[in-house]
Amino acid sequence: MIKVIRAKDYEEMSRKAAAVMAAQIISKEDTVLGLATGSTPEGLYANLVKAYQAGNLDFSKVRTVNLDEYQGLPREHDQSYYYFMNYHLFQHVNMAADANNLPNGMNEDIQAECERYHGVIESMGGVDMQLLGIGGNGHIGFNEPSDHFEQKTHCLALAEDTIKANSRFFASEDEVPRRAFSMGIGEIMAAKKILMVANGKGKAQAVKDMLTGPVTPQVPASILQFHPDVVLVADEDALSLL
Ligand code: F6R
Repeated sequence: MIKVIRAKDYEEMSRKAAAVMAAQIISKEDTVLGLATGSTPEGLYANLVKAYQAGNLDFSKVRTVNLDEYQGLPREHDQSYYYFMNYHLFQHVNMAADANNLPNGMNEDIQAECERYHGVIESMGGVDMQLLGIGGNGHIGFNEPSDHFEQKTHCLALAEDTIKANSRFFASEDEVPRRAFSMGIGEIMAAKKILMVANGKGKAQAVKDMLTGPVTPQVPASILQFHPDVVLVADEDALSLL
């Protein structure tokens, strides 16, 4: 079931989504969070940092596992997802040094890296709350539109739409990595709760297809219709086609 929470704009979406995540951390101090990168959750992370600085959140027992990472980017690269997470969240709160997990984009043994990451997710005893953004093409994590759902962590070729969308962060489109490691749909669906954030007109069609369209790997997010506990916090623009 997907519960929709409306927000008037990006700021309100960020505050409301942060409140949902904060409630999770407060109610279970050793929460396992599944985390996402991208423009959409930046405001959510900023609100979590604010709540921490105000003394309202304690991350000391929280552990995290991110959805994805570009293949071939070292952690120090300013467009790696490791860098993003440190920049927006990890370095600002009191998480333990070994609490955060991302795929290692530099592991040349792809099969071994996918198996290692699946093992990491399993070893955490399950994700309590998985944060998701949504691609304009309906992707979640980097599960791109396809003819099947991928179960587990895998390494895949990014869709042309995704390379174009993400080129805004790089000097040119040529510099966008062509491949990425991503959690699979099965791993995402195994999370106890899912929190999705979406804003802007560019997400409206994907949000509509996710909520009202058939469940199909051509719109990977549509599988969330089969998850028992999904909260979508979206602004007016993202909900404008409903
Ligand atoms: C990021 C991720 C992606 C993004 C999606 C939306 O970890 O898994 O699925 O959530 O591409 O990106 P933004 O928020 O930049 O529009």
